[in-house]
Amino acid sequence: MKYYGVNELREMYLRFFEKKGHLRLKSASLVPENDKSLLLINAGMAPLKAYFTGQEVPPSKRVTSCQKCIRTGDIDNVGKTDRHGTFFEMLGNFSFGDYFKEEAISWSWEFVTQVLKIPKDRLYVTVFMDDDEAAAIWHEQEHVPKSHIFYMGKKDNFWEVGTTGPCGPCSEIYYDRGEEYGCGRRSCTIGCDCDRYIEFWNLVFTEYNKNEDGSYDPLKFPNIDTGMGLERIAAIMQGVPTLFDVDTIKVIRDKVCEFAGIEYGDNKDDDVSVRVITDHMRSIVFMLADKVHPSNEGRGYVLRRLIRRAMRHGRILGIENQFLANLVSIVVGIYGNEYPELEDQQRSIIRALIMEEGNFEKTIKEGLGILGGYIERMIKENKTILDDEKCFKLYDTYGFPFELTREIVEEEGFKVSEEGFYKKMQAQKEQARAARSEYTYMGTKMDVLETIEVDPTLADPSLFRGYVTRELDTSIIAIIDVSEEKGIVYEHVAQLNDIRYIATAETPFFAESGGQVGDIGTITSETGEGLITRVIKDIHGCIIHRVEIVKGYIDRHQNVNLKINQEVRLSVSRNHSATHLLQSALREVIGNHVEQAGSSVNKDRLRFDFTNFEALKKSEIKKVERLVNQKIFEGLEIDTSEMSLFDAQTQGAIALFGEKYGDVVRVVDMEGYSIELCGGTHVTNTSQIGLFKILSESGVSAGVRRIEAITGIIAVEHGQEIENQIEEIAIMTKCQKTEVVKQVKNLVESLDSAKKENQKLKTEINKMIVESRVNEAVDIDDVKVLVTQVDGKSIDEMKEMGDMLKNRLKICIIFLMSIVEEKVNLVAMTTNDLVDKGVNCGTIIKKLAPIVNGKGGGRANIAQGNGRDPTKIKELFTKAIEVIKEFIT
Ligand code: ALA
Repeated sequence: MKYYGVNELREMYLRFFEKKGHLRLKSASLVPENDKSLLLINAGMAPLKAYFTGQEVPPSKRVTSCQKCIRTGDIDNVGKTDRHGTFFEMLGNFSFGDYFKEEAISWSWEFVTQVLKIPKDRLYVTVFMDDDEAAAIWHEQEHVPKSHIFYMGKKDNFWEVGTTGPCGPCSEIYYDRGEEYGCGRRSCTIGCDCDRYIEFWNLVFTEYNKNEDGSYDPLKFPNIDTGMGLERIAAIMQGVPTLFDVDTIKVIRDKVCEFAGIEYGDNKDDDVSVRVITDHMRSIVFMLADKVHPSNEGRGYVLRRLIRRAMRHGRILGIENQFLANLVSIVVGIYGNEYPELEDQQRSIIRALIMEEGNFEKTIKEGLGILGGYIERMIKENKTILDDEKCFKLYDTYGFPFELTREIVEEEGFKVSEEGFYKKMQAQKEQARAARSEYTYMGTKMDVLETIEVDPTLADPSLFRGYVTRELDTSIIAIIDVSEEKGIVYEHVAQLNDIRYIATAETPFFAESGGQVGDIGTITSETGEGLITRVIKDIHGCIIHRVEIVKGYIDRHQNVNLKINQEVRLSVSRNHSATHLLQSALREVIGNHVEQAGSSVNKDRLRFDFTNFEALKKSEIKKVERLVNQKIFEGLEIDTSEMSLFDAQTQGAIALFGEKYGDVVRVVDMEGYSIELCGGTHVTNTSQIGLFKILSESGVSAGVRRIEAITGIIAVEHGQEIENQIEEIAIMTKCQKTEVVKQVKNLVESLDSAKKENQKLKTEINKMIVESRVNEAVDIDDVKVLVTQVDGKSIDEMKEMGDMLKNRLKICIIFLMSIVEEKVNLVAMTTNDLVDKGVNCGTIIKKLAPIVNGKGGGRANIAQGNGRDPTKIKELFTKAIEVIKEFIT
């Protein structure tokens, strides 16, 4: 067979299907859009789900793509086998209600046998056990002999992924690599798990949609979804034994070997590590390029795990330094052409890796120390299994990955209890969940609130008029009571003091979304009045007002007047518009890599999270702050309009990464300085923001920073508050406001010199006390023993005095006692020649401190202690002489 490189094969495939009327699509991001059933895109069809179900209209009924994919289900096998990897590219051709089985089968056969020219006798196909139709097409239409057609069960030939979504029976094409790859068993045939027959192309006849409850609904029209592993077909065409020998992947593999200073193939264990790094590196680079950040949750955790595994295998190979970042350019070099995002993001990818590697190194050092201690204790205590408690503590408190604990413990010949660990993890999650659901929003449990749903048959979702209107008259669609016990109950009347959720035909109330809080205000009918304290949307987008009835009652059939609190709305809008200016200013000052990673806007402040690897410098913060204020003073008109997504993007509007937008979007334009897609409320001119002040800049997670800021009157009040404080300081320090810094500096300096002076005086006094006590020393066998009381002295002072006494008394033992604030300080000191003779101050203190209800200890030449019972000081005095005597005589 002819040798084809990976890049060549990709192009051949896409061209072939373009010629068959397919539209070539770019690979979608690895981060699924609007799809909670998946953490990462794991198949060519995954980003196209909405086209299969009919929820969205595809750009063409036939499309073809080469999709980057990640699957981590088999991560533990990666490296150990020839075939497993976490990253791969999937070639696919798709039909959305257009062609079906006949064409799908015919074209796949044409590509395989006529374009790639794979010999037919090497090819086999499988079909789903009920699918005689597919078997007939293979046999009658394509003349595949019956001996090369196999029927398989649901496990192998029914394709579904994730918890829900499009799925159906499938048919797979296999290649026979020859006997030399086989297991040699007589039963060896298609489906055997040895390396002889490999499946490389899966044709799915997508006819069903799997629901959350596990049931299947037929789709409106049948579809085709096919998937061929690009590296797998490359391995076949290149006649190489494993994925890691394919032309592109080999380049990374060899670079890893170069770093480790080894030859691939020399040592089996080393090869495992080389393969792990080679595979993981591709997933890591692609995920970072799609702006996944390492974290402890969801896909961020998948990424973190991959990075940490790769690092760990680097260590196994003896690579001591951070090295992953050095491999980035190799991966980018190989894939950059097909996936330009890799080149665009290269710098950020490298920085993120350097940071994550650095952080992990610290964690590992700390964790290894602790784990080493645990293992030592296990050896001493003759234990074989590491406590679940300890395992979990390493993970939970020290961030040490469980997988690593397991690997290390097992390397030492011990075990961990996986079950025990996961039980602990589960228990912790449940605790957290319980804590969350106990969190109440003004009396209503959050969890229940999230389940609110206005029956869509009752009426159209309530229309939002609040961009232009502050107040309107409208009718009620539903009054809902939500409670933990009863769930959701529709009611006719909301009585005085009731808390109810009310949906109306129209509303000026903005529902919390996009990081902006909802409006507050009032609802009034002929017979009653309520306060609207929160506004949310149900799953259909229907706006619902949380109402506390404060007067009379409100009836389901009444007309009502809805009025928002204008002042609050204006404050929120100010902060929201300022957030847009902030984003543009950040891009201008620190670079275009800045992307919104989250935002939260309420009446009091704004919070903006964005991607950046380092903390902002003080000068950058000031610059950003000035720039935003400058744009406020320029009085930019804020224009909002609706347009097609295409037009918005042509205008350069900033869209939220990973957010799905409808066909028509709302664009908020501040005279071109900031153009963002946004559904929130804004002021009409930037001058209305008044003033912008950054309060803080801090880190949220690796690569994400947070700015908190205030605007308008709150910013003014903040300035006033600071001024008040300065005034207070000025009064206290007796100077003019403008002089405080100088004055405080002077005061600090004079305080310092006063302290020094004080210290000097104390020493002088202590010297005098020492002089007066020298004579109290008694001679015992040529040793001067001095036991004396120096009340009011701290331990440090006592030590200083001890030193002076030692100088005066030469061969001596000194025991000082001082009462300070009802407590007793003790210091014992002696000279080195006596230490040599066995005197030990540590022992002296240990014996004496208990007399005054205290403890202490120290070295042989100096020791200290303290006690809580000064009444025993006389007794201590007598005992001290006795104890000291024992040492000398
Ligand atoms: N969606 C099918 C697969 O991933 C083609 O195997």
